[in-house]
Amino acid sequence: MARTSTFSLLFGGFSVLAAARRCQNLTVEVDISARNGVFDIETPVTDIDVTDFIFEMGTQGRNYSDEHLTGYTTVSGTYELAATYCEPDNKTSDVLQIMSHGVGFDRSYWDYPVNNWNYSYTKVAVDDYGYSTFTWDRLGIAESSRGEPINEIQSWLELAALEKLTNMLRAGEVDGLEDKHFRKIVHVGHSFGSIMAYSMTASNRCISDGIVLTGFSHMGAYMPYFLFAGTFVRANSLAPLADYGDGYIAPAVVSAAQTNLFAPGMYDPEVLNIAFERGQPAAVGEFLTLGMRAGEPSSFNGPALVITGDRDLPFCGGDCSASGDSGLDSLLDLSAEFLSQASPFEAYVVPGAGHGMGFEYSHAEVTGKILDFLVQNGLAAH
Ligand SMILES: *[C@@H]1O[C@H](CO)[C@@H](O)[C@H](O)[C@H]1NC(C)=O
Ligand SMILES: *[C@@H]1O[C@H](CO)[C@@H](O)[C@H](O)[C@H]1NC(C)=O
Ligand SMILES: *[C@@H]1O[C@H](CO)[C@@H](O)[C@H](O)[C@H]1NC(C)=O
Ligand SMILES: *[C@@H]1O[C@H](CO)[C@@H](O)[C@H](O)[C@H]1NC(C)=O
Repeated sequence: MARTSTFSLLFGGFSVLAAARRCQNLTVEVDISARNGVFDIETPVTDIDVTDFIFEMGTQGRNYSDEHLTGYTTVSGTYELAATYCEPDNKTSDVLQIMSHGVGFDRSYWDYPVNNWNYSYTKVAVDDYGYSTFTWDRLGIAESSRGEPINEIQSWLELAALEKLTNMLRAGEVDGLEDKHFRKIVHVGHSFGSIMAYSMTASNRCISDGIVLTGFSHMGAYMPYFLFAGTFVRANSLAPLADYGDGYIAPAVVSAAQTNLFAPGMYDPEVLNIAFERGQPAAVGEFLTLGMRAGEPSSFNGPALVITGDRDLPFCGGDCSASGDSGLDSLLDLSAEFLSQASPFEAYVVPGAGHGMGFEYSHAEVTGKILDFLVQNGLAAH
């Protein structure tokens, strides 16, 4: 008797909570290889070296990467990627979202604990829309394998890692997730993670069923704003990042995160402070290869959404609506030409929001827009 009522109480409790995401951390071993660039650049070992590097990278009219590219080499290895898989309480979704974070973050970007997970994209995607999600720390960053920061940890190797992860997840080859089978796989990125998702699908359109590029545009001209606003120093000169080797760099002050991620009047200052305190570095090799295939047209023919804050600094110079072309509603529409086969293609400018729009008051609009776009375009979770 007592037992029965306890059972029904518990059961009732669960029903009221509805689906709560169930997450597990994984370490995924990947064998990958990539054609990396070889650069004749010394690893910066002082903050003066770091600033000189950023100065050279951001100088107008030049291409510092190209000037120091001496050739290409194949980098191969076995690496460990730290990842988190989540699914609704009741069941594995038939649609998996693979999410790749940008510079300055780790995989927790998608499931931020701030304000009781109020900013979490994963929480809404899993609990309210029923998706399964997979996030990973970029190769070289946070809890994933580190590496030599100039000629090894480059975008090309990270792209190979994302490709490998995707294929393993599709084939049920990830240890701990062998019993999960997904009908569709969607790729969502933020910033550098969006460049990665775009680059991966540009030449290999079958690898993804849908792409969502957040904090992204095809306008490269404002990248120096990001570099110079970043006040980069050696990551290991900052206490929370002391375990990184030389060649990893990170913003020295909270104002750098503010300028690059947050638009005036759009955020809780406490979230800014936390984003800075939890910030992760990037490797010099990533900066040297940041663009990947962003400049090449894509053959991707599935649904593609570009969603970016109107005040995005790195991708719009602080004003996406000022396209300088009466034929373009915003700089985001530049992507329509690159993604000419996407079906459909949609560009969505988030009013007032900055580059880190998921951490601003706009987060609900951003999350809702992305998930509704997927639902409306044949990628609803079942
Ligand atoms: C599980 O699924 C059933 C039927 O769809 C639903 O009524 C119930 O609320 C779900 N429970 C949880 C914990 O999500
Ligand atoms: C997964 O790892 C992260 C980072 O180490 C940790 O904060 C989190 O609590 C872990 N989650 C689970 C479900 O174990
Ligand atoms: C700089 O050169 C690299 C290597 O040749 C190339 O991939 C990249 O697109 C160039 N960047 C710009 C902004 O032109
Ligand atoms: C969660 O976010 C919404 C929308 O920005 C906001 O109205 C609400 O106050 C937030 N709740 C918490 C606990 O921060």
